[in-house]
Amino acid sequence: MNAGEPRGHTLSDPSAHAGRPASGANSLTEPKDSGQASARHASVIPQDVDIIVTIDGPAGTGKSTVAQALAERLGLDLLDTGAMYRAAAAIAIDRGLMDDIEADDPATRDPAIARFVEVVTEADVHFDWTTDPPAIMAWSKALGKFEPINERIRTPDVTRAVSIIAGIVPLRHHMVRKQRIIAHQHPRLVTEGRDQGSVVFPDALVKFFLDADLKVRAERRADQLRAAGYPAEGDELMEQLARRDEADRNRDEGPLICPDDAITVDTSDLTFEQVVDRLGRDVLDRVGVA
Ligand code: DC
Repeated sequence: MNAGEPRGHTLSDPSAHAGRPASGANSLTEPKDSGQASARHASVIPQDVDIIVTIDGPAGTGKSTVAQALAERLGLDLLDTGAMYRAAAAIAIDRGLMDDIEADDPATRDPAIARFVEVVTEADVHFDWTTDPPAIMAWSKALGKFEPINERIRTPDVTRAVSIIAGIVPLRHHMVRKQRIIAHQHPRLVTEGRDQGSVVFPDALVKFFLDADLKVRAERRADQLRAAGYPAEGDELMEQLARRDEADRNRDEGPLICPDDAITVDTSDLTFEQVVDRLGRDVLDRVGVA
């Protein structure tokens, strides 16, 4: 399967709200997972049922925390695809590749991007499924071994660089391929990211699109940043989010769209618990578990 055309409609389309319903490593050679991650959580969905649940949507809708809670509640594995793009951004920064990747001159930029994708491929970004939640790992040239990079990928320099990195088409193809391999190894999966239902798993059994007012999303982002010890200003974040939404919706590859067959949930006026309850019920309905 190739990265393929996204299936869905843009957020400005009113029908968007109609709503309907590894070695612990994900290296490309990893055999199908033995199920140790699923064994961590009591399973609500019968063990013999394979199910992919996708959660797409813009930044600040609570996708990550909701996906984590939903996976835990249903006894499914969790794939945080944003972490994979963040890992690639950390690699670009730490290997000193950002300036050339961002160069205006294609004679500098194009070979830098090709080299960057090679470097990311060699770093074999993957998850260690033996930890809970799974740790994201990358090969460290300096240490000569894989190291967890969970903390590195949440730093502000990575957050600033990642939307540029996530727009690099050959990198997206690489990540889409990895994500499909992960789903093959972890066939009972909640996967979260802006293209999961539209591009990566168009045949997923249950697709959600989480949305929320821009102001609410900016406030949530500000709270998260403050909780992590970084200064944050709501108005500034609102402008940043609006710019990012615009860029994400108009991107050629993996744009932010609502899949046609997704269940749209506006989380603006819902608590975290209410969102998780709603999604959990929808999944169980779809699987036929009362
Ligand atoms: O959800 P997050 O903030 O960790 O995502 C990091 C970045 O990666 C953000 O710019 C969105 C982008 N991303 C993407 O383009 N495709 C995905 N499947 C997941 C994230």
